[in-house]
Amino acid sequence: MELKTVDLAVEEHGEGTPLVLIHGFPLNRQIWQPIVPLLKSKARLILPDLRGFGESPREVEGYSMRLLAADILQLLDRLNIEKAIIAGHSMGGYVALEFAHAYPHRLKGLALVASQADADSPERRQARLITAREVRSRGIRYIADGMPSKLSEDVEIQHQLNQIISTCDVAVVVAALRAMADRRDANLWLPEIQVPVLVITGAKDQLIPPERAHSFIKLVNKGWMVEIPEAGHMPMMESPQRTAEALFQLICAANGC
Ligand code: MLT
Repeated sequence: MELKTVDLAVEEHGEGTPLVLIHGFPLNRQIWQPIVPLLKSKARLILPDLRGFGESPREVEGYSMRLLAADILQLLDRLNIEKAIIAGHSMGGYVALEFAHAYPHRLKGLALVASQADADSPERRQARLITAREVRSRGIRYIADGMPSKLSEDVEIQHQLNQIISTCDVAVVVAALRAMADRRDANLWLPEIQVPVLVITGAKDQLIPPERAHSFIKLVNKGWMVEIPEAGHMPMMESPQRTAEALFQLICAANGC
């Protein structure tokens, strides 16, 4: 299978161990801004926009989690990075898990932030395909207005998320929903991951509840979980300090300190 990668838009801060922060759906790299000042003296932060989102090319042919992982590999090659810690938020976590499976030799550590290894249940898959149909017929407002209250209970954060989602293309949102519905069950390869693995979960997450993190962590060799009591689905915005501290622990573990 030929994977036709694109050049992702990217922003970098700091120096040291490369830490790639991959945003979730249907967002962009802006979500990580609250943790940038807290971590940029500790690592080389690499914030891409996934294809279709933010400032990256809106090329959606063959959109899949596997293809998005190939885009991240191409980004590492472009930046001359041999190994990186890959941290993915929600859908970004699905991409990070595909990366871990396809390119283990390029991985120094893995973090899932409000994410999971499970594939969609038949009901969840069906609901996604219905959402895709609704977005196509009603436009981006359907998801820009409906989704933020599920992501966080903080009204200011909801407002910021509404603005980010409003910039999305309908075709990209539909492609990403279908790709998530078709994604593989990553539990199958969790025991093969040889690098330190961190899972950050928000106790109030309505989309991916903490129980998923509990079952995930049992399947990895070197992993631990940080549950943030006040966070929902957006720990990096709702609780930047605790999120940055947890990621710093992973940087230490990946460097053997
Ligand atoms: C995300 O936040 O990336 C998505 O909501 C994840 C999902 O729907 O599974």
